[in-house]
Amino acid sequence: MKSDIITLLRQRGTYVSGQELCEQFGVSRTAVWKAMEQLKKDGYQIEAVKNRGYLLREDSRGVFGRTEIESRRKSQWIGQTLAFYDQTDSTNVQAKHLAEEGAPDGTVVVADSQSAGRGRRGRTWTSPPGTNLYFTLLLRPKITPDKASMLTLVMALAVAQGIQSTVDAPRTGIQSTVEVPQVGIKWPNDIVIDGRKACGILTELSLSVEQDCIDYLVIGTGINVARQSFPEELQGHAVSLEEIYGAVNRSELLANVLAAFEESYEQFLKAQSLENLRPAYDMLLVNRDRSVRVLDPKGEYDGTARGIQNTGELIVELPDGSVKNVYAGEVSVRGIYGYV
Ligand code: BTN
Repeated sequence: MKSDIITLLRQRGTYVSGQELCEQFGVSRTAVWKAMEQLKKDGYQIEAVKNRGYLLREDSRGVFGRTEIESRRKSQWIGQTLAFYDQTDSTNVQAKHLAEEGAPDGTVVVADSQSAGRGRRGRTWTSPPGTNLYFTLLLRPKITPDKASMLTLVMALAVAQGIQSTVDAPRTGIQSTVEVPQVGIKWPNDIVIDGRKACGILTELSLSVEQDCIDYLVIGTGINVARQSFPEELQGHAVSLEEIYGAVNRSELLANVLAAFEESYEQFLKAQSLENLRPAYDMLLVNRDRSVRVLDPKGEYDGTARGIQNTGELIVELPDGSVKNVYAGEVSVRGIYGYV
């Protein structure tokens, strides 16, 4: 009921009478009062005025936790089961524990901070509290393991679309007439704004004993929302949403990313490939029609990126006009003049 109360108070933006809340949720006045007390403890600024009712104050916007996330959920089934931690080692690790214990398809694990955030290639993902979004989605897809890497691209697309819809929505206090940079994807799954990385995605897979199908997979996503200072090695390569767009609500962002993912995931399952998502992905691909250097361990080469295949490989046109399909995981791609 707590998240439903918050949803209602937020939608109204004005006083809602105790009587209306009782009728809406079919509970007593004491139950409403108790819920309000708990919400205040969670950090919500709620005003109670005799004969007018309850008002959710604007300065509650910074609250981040289970109630806030639940109250903003737009997806149907993804995130219906939610685990929230103020602090944990890694949401990927927690999601895997929950998966082993039988947590359902679509479970989402969120943390305000991580003490052992994991990045790709064994790197760490610095995860301070109160600033960024760290979450992991647990899926149990009925697909063969060779298709799993495509889901990282599905998440990249969802993050790009989720960021864009969050920052495009009218927000209080932001009145910009200057053009702001758009969100793009650096193949395969880095989210890039203004030529710098705003998000990383780490997918981990558990195969069933028969090895020819997936038991579960976890897709961990870290988005730089408000972080102001980055580790030295990332300076100049990393960016936060706040730097570009002003303050962004983390729960709203998560809701938009999960809603976008749910829609795209259904398309992916239907086609068992990225066929239906390819046009949207290619539109956001910052490498498209740009020179890239393919860092193939067997020998580096240059070409022009042209988009992705239905299975997620990057199509690279070589100077002699021939075309190569580049597989993520085996090689990485750099812009000739920098990161993108
Ligand atoms: C990368 O190196 O680009 C991937 C970083 C992925 C970080 C996220 S934060 C949430 C989830 N939990 C983790 O421990 N890692 C991922």
